Amino acid sequence: MAPNNFFLWSLTFQLLLLLLVSSESSWIAGDVTQIPMKFLESAKSPEVFDWMVRIRRKIHENPELGYEEFETSKLIRSELDLIGVKYRSPVAITGVIGYIGTGEPPFVALRADMDALPIQEAVEWEHKSKIPGKMHACGHDGHVAMLLGAAKMLQEHRHDLQGTVVLIFQPAEEGLAGAKKMIEEGALKNVEAIFGLHLTNRFPFGKAASCAGSMLAGSGFFEAVITGKGGHAAIPQHTIDPVVAASSIVLSLQHLVSRETDPLDSKVVTVSKVHGGNAFNVIPDSVTIGGTIRAFTGFTQLEQRIKEVITKQATVHRCNASVNLRPNGKESLPPTVNNKDLYKQFKMVVRDLLGQEAFVEAAPVMGSEDFSYFAEAIPGHFSLLGMQDETKGYASSHSPHYRVNEDVLPYGAAIHVSMAVQYLKEKASKDSVTSSHDEL
Ligand SMILES: *[C@@H]1O[C@H](CO)[C@@H](O)[C@H](O)[C@H]1NC(C)=O
Ligand SMILES: [Zn+2]
Ligand SMILES: [Zn+2]
Repeated sequence: MAPNNFFLWSLTFQLLLLLLVSSESSWIAGDVTQIPMKFLESAKSPEVFDWMVRIRRKIHENPELGYEEFETSKLIRSELDLIGVKYRSPVAITGVIGYIGTGEPPFVALRADMDALPIQEAVEWEHKSKIPGKMHACGHDGHVAMLLGAAKMLQEHRHDLQGTVVLIFQPAEEGLAGAKKMIEEGALKNVEAIFGLHLTNRFPFGKAASCAGSMLAGSGFFEAVITGKGGHAAIPQHTIDPVVAASSIVLSLQHLVSRETDPLDSKVVTVSKVHGGNAFNVIPDSVTIGGTIRAFTGFTQLEQRIKEVITKQATVHRCNASVNLRPNGKESLPPTVNNKDLYKQFKMVVRDLLGQEAFVEAAPVMGSEDFSYFAEAIPGHFSLLGMQDETKGYASSHSPHYRVNEDVLPYGAAIHVSMAVQYLKEKASKDSVTSSHDEL
């Protein structure tokens, strides 16, 4: 009997220990399910709202282009210091990565971009850009403010986070592949999901939009120099005319989408630059053309065909052509593809947070976002937050008349926080199901 008793005793002891350990660890890590999801109220409180507005205006006054966001980066770091959030910096020259929570998995990321555009601001207001020829005309100033607002709210709940929220402030979204560089420098290390949010005047105020699967196209650029032999415009037989060759190439390129692409699979080939010749009576030596391609699938094949059509059409006209698919080092972007489960989570979060009518199913568009690099590397979800009012007075992005409706900032901050917390909640409940399963 003694061994049996001993066995029972030791089993009881082990169970007791298990209980102690698990309650101990949940006491240390907090309980993410206990965080109330009332983030819109907190985000609208003067403490968070005024702070975001101040930050956004400061950044708006001092716009910085891709990989030059030194002051913006410094501002982000000093605000993170102020609220006690630890961070890693610099990442990708000016990038900042903040961490809130246990410092342990699961890691879930929220992303904001920091760069401005080479546009002269045409809006006259108190906080107009102080830098001639540079402007935050894509709302990235608002994106930074919303993510800092989210950081402030998350930091208040840091003891209840079962996992770590990673705040990614990335440089150079506008055509310089800042996201790619962030990934190369380890921004997604251990991160299992990422969320991005873009302000837009395409949707009414307070509506949030996304879709499952492909939401934005992949984009690429091409530039070609078509070389012939210049000469007198009245004696064409002694020349090899690159103007006619280039014209033929521009038209032939249009057949790639109309004749070689499934009509139900959206693609764009646009020749947007043609440069060549200076005189009425001189055939030039060469002509340069350039443009962009957009596609959700078959990107590499399309690039190959562009190269082929340009060089072979040049040959038809006795010219030579060199094709550059990375002009000025411009990287191609993969399409932005939203993870289905994260999309479902987003829809639920938006309806809970902003009301049943607040979610809008977005139709895919041929625009691009470098968030796609993140969503290509790990499950990701990109969404749009509307800020258009009844006057329809808000210009579209990349316009010199672009404005951010600052009343939307709490909505974005609240969505960020809710997405991160909801992700960790679901993760925690799944883990507890799995571990109780293991014990059986
Ligand atoms: C095209 O390239 C070939 C081979 O390099 C050269 O022989 C020819 O002269 C070039 N033609 C033109 C029009 O530049
Ligand atoms: Zn933009
Ligand atoms: Zn943008």
